[in-house]
Amino acid sequence: MAIQRLDRLLSDAHGVSRREAKALLRAGRVTVNGVPERDPERKIDTSCDTVAADGTALDLRPFRYYMLHKPAGILSATEDRTQKTVLELLPPEARRPGLAPVGRLDKDTTGLLLLTDDGTLAHTLISPKRHVPKVYRALLDAPADAGMAAAFAAGLILGDGTRCLPAVLEPICGGARITVYEGKYHQVKRMCAACGRTVTALHRERFGALTLDAALAPGQWRELDAAELDALRQGCTGKTDCAPL
Ligand code: URA
Repeated sequence: MAIQRLDRLLSDAHGVSRREAKALLRAGRVTVNGVPERDPERKIDTSCDTVAADGTALDLRPFRYYMLHKPAGILSATEDRTQKTVLELLPPEARRPGLAPVGRLDKDTTGLLLLTDDGTLAHTLISPKRHVPKVYRALLDAPADAGMAAAFAAGLILGDGTRCLPAVLEPICGGARITVYEGKYHQVKRMCAACGRTVTALHRERFGALTLDAALAPGQWRELDAAELDALRQGCTGKTDCAPL
């Protein structure tokens, strides 16, 4: 349950300044649960109250959660002076203050990217203590084999001495399906390099409890549904197992 002052809620949910929100209220253009309301200090319970301005119901959800099929060639960043970022793939009405990708995919990596303005959940999902699984499909310049899978399972040491957590590698046609439980810089590419392979293409299929929606073409996005959001949150609390594929 989230309780908020009406003028603040109006300004956030309706995209107006606090002064404009107060003016709307004074003009009698705002209703709460269908009844006209003029008090800017009226406390609203966003879990059950409804608020409308000029007859249009406002979306009172405090945060947004988007699943994006990241295409190659786009930066996992909120802004960049020269290059296109994943936020630019969203229409203006979906962009909100604080909206950011949860973790990063390399510019040439494709696949599942979560974006949200819920900083607490984002922080939890990328915390190194949580070991949230990420599943990638990697195309390699040479076949993956049982030796490579064993090296991944034992916990690889990268070229610069960085030690990785045990990971799962399953050889597939043209490369490997790889599950890692941390998010080091260029992790999958460097792990494969430590085994003498070059990643020629990398695609993320899963992030925690989320699986990339096969109906999303590269560049397309959608909001998470309630079940996906619940599963994502549960995966963070350790209540359920985010088992690797
Ligand atoms: N590992 C990488 O090497 N690159 C990514 O984009 C994600 C994981």
